[in-house]
Amino acid sequence: MHQVKKISDETNLKGKYVLLRSSLNVPVEDGKVVNQFRIVRAIPTIKHLLDQGARVILIGHIGRDPKETLKPVADVLAESFPVKWAGLIKGDVVDRMRLELKDGEILMLENLRSDERETKNDSTFAAELASMADVYVDDAFDAAHRAHTSMVGIPPLLPSYVGINFCMEYEELKHTLKPEHPSLFILGGAKFETKMPLVEKFLNSYDHIFIGGALANDFFKAKGLEVGKSLVSEIDLSDSDLLKNEKIIIPVDVVVEGPNGKRTIAPNEVEVDEIILDAGPETIKLLSLYTRGAKTILWNGPLGNYEDGFEGGTVALAKLVAESGAYSVVGGGDTVAAIESLGLSGQFGFMSTGGGAMLEFLEHGTLVAIDALKAGVHK
Ligand code: 3PG
Repeated sequence: MHQVKKISDETNLKGKYVLLRSSLNVPVEDGKVVNQFRIVRAIPTIKHLLDQGARVILIGHIGRDPKETLKPVADVLAESFPVKWAGLIKGDVVDRMRLELKDGEILMLENLRSDERETKNDSTFAAELASMADVYVDDAFDAAHRAHTSMVGIPPLLPSYVGINFCMEYEELKHTLKPEHPSLFILGGAKFETKMPLVEKFLNSYDHIFIGGALANDFFKAKGLEVGKSLVSEIDLSDSDLLKNEKIIIPVDVVVEGPNGKRTIAPNEVEVDEIILDAGPETIKLLSLYTRGAKTILWNGPLGNYEDGFEGGTVALAKLVAESGAYSVVGGGDTVAAIESLGLSGQFGFMSTGGGAMLEFLEHGTLVAIDALKAGVHK
């Protein structure tokens, strides 16, 4: 990231309008933020800008529905900072609020995706956003894999900087690309078709790769086992060398649910009307053999259907990794939520605010938003 200017080094910001793109995509229930992890990580950059007397125009996205609002995030930030909530992203009201903004204050705009041009890297939208500020700061690592207007359209138009959280993400994740051995990569979640290139790449650098979550179902299926109604991806691994690769570990027991309720069984005992929803205790025991001596553990994605209460495997693994003494880096919303709910955050080396962005960075060593910052105007 040495080609990109860091906002933490910049102190000449008094009275300047700074367009700050942060990771504000957090879970909300009944109008309240239920997990502040990303907001907490957005704060060092916000604080730095305010301390330097900048006038911050804070932008971000939330959810997939363009009607979702950032107001609950504004409410959280307003507890600690002078936040003026615009409720819109453009127009006369926003222009007036911008002009009235004082040094050390924040004007927070509505969900960028409420304008359909955000996801299209639209040059007119980029120009509108850029015209509001003197300087742009990108701190939204979580969205850095998206070629969206606020991520890649603005750097060519304004002096651009990387924010404190984004910079930390880059350095920490870069570090994991050359792990200290013994090393273990744990990959959960779903959609093996998108994760296969990463697995293939990491077989060259990591000593072992554990494949969990719905990804493991693809391995069971390819081995000719019954997977019932379990989630499988579009990929067929039956002829893949991955099946025979000794570096790859898959669950040795699974928690399933079916007409006869919930049971923990061997992968070859799954019935046609059952669905695999978590890894079982024998799998955790097996994993402990690898976490124990490991020097580096990199983990993304839950081992089970965490959101629907199948959290046993993920929780047990979080405890194992926390106790391992390895340098551990984790990412993905459910994985981080599990660690936080156990109060184990302090025992992890680094927790990424990225889910998909983390995986894409690990696969390619860069992201579209990083490339945009590198190619942007650096005055
Ligand atoms: C995330 O939560 O992974 C990021 O905020 C990106 O959100 P998106 O997948 O809706 O683009």
